[in-house]
Amino acid sequence: MSTPELWSAVDEYVVDHLVPEAGGLEYVEQASHAAGLPPIAVTPAQGKLLQLLARMQQARAILELGTLGGYSTIWLARALPPDGRLITLEADPRCAEVARANIVRAGLQEMVELRLGPALETLPKLAAEGAGPFDLIFIDADKPNNPAYLEWALNLSRSGTVIVVDNVVRDGKIIDAASPDPDVKGTRRMFELMAREPRLNSTVLQTVGAKGYDGFALAVVR
Ligand code: SAH
Ligand code: DHB
Ligand code: MG
Repeated sequence: MSTPELWSAVDEYVVDHLVPEAGGLEYVEQASHAAGLPPIAVTPAQGKLLQLLARMQQARAILELGTLGGYSTIWLARALPPDGRLITLEADPRCAEVARANIVRAGLQEMVELRLGPALETLPKLAAEGAGPFDLIFIDADKPNNPAYLEWALNLSRSGTVIVVDNVVRDGKIIDAASPDPDVKGTRRMFELMAREPRLNSTVLQTVGAKGYDGFALAVVR
């Protein structure tokens, strides 16, 4: 019988065997917890998945929306070549402070730029600066804005850019068309955009593990 306990036990087995790097990143979760940040970062196995996607993509420029304590940031930045660059957007100054310290501790401060402020204010500035196109864009901030984030991701992409969106399943809540939850509504509107956007070729990878049942939307720009 598949249960959340079994998902967690298998997650632990997978990480023990295939994700030895996770042990060296425990300080990120500890520092985040100590600072009172919520425990909502991707899991170690998911962080590794993001890193492998960035490697498969041979990404040199990565954009992340939603930094929290920098856990997914560090996994992604470690996929970059020495001259690669990651820009991560975070609205909460407390998260940004914790993340900056974690990024320094990871030795990634030269490669990672954290921009403090609501992503919908920073994204137009990035576009005006001529930032991008990014090779991989990870959308993991406030879910009601997911439709707008997908549009911005397209604006900052090229043919071949990979777009990943976190938390698109949420225990299956995503299929509830009558949900009043603004997170569900935002992500459902994002799915509608994704479905009718001719520039995107998309699917969803459902996930179970230490953080329950969820999923990543994966898209490639044509
Ligand atoms: N990617 C992180 C988790 C991000 S949690 C990881 O897996 O390690 C979502 C983050 O988005 C939180 O830190 C939250 O403060 C941030 N956030 C919420 N609204 C935002 C906004 N409008 N702009 C930028 N970041 C936002
Ligand atoms: C939650 C989890 C996430 O990965 C996220 O980006 C935002 C919220 C949550 O479990 O509430
Ligand atoms: Mg998330």
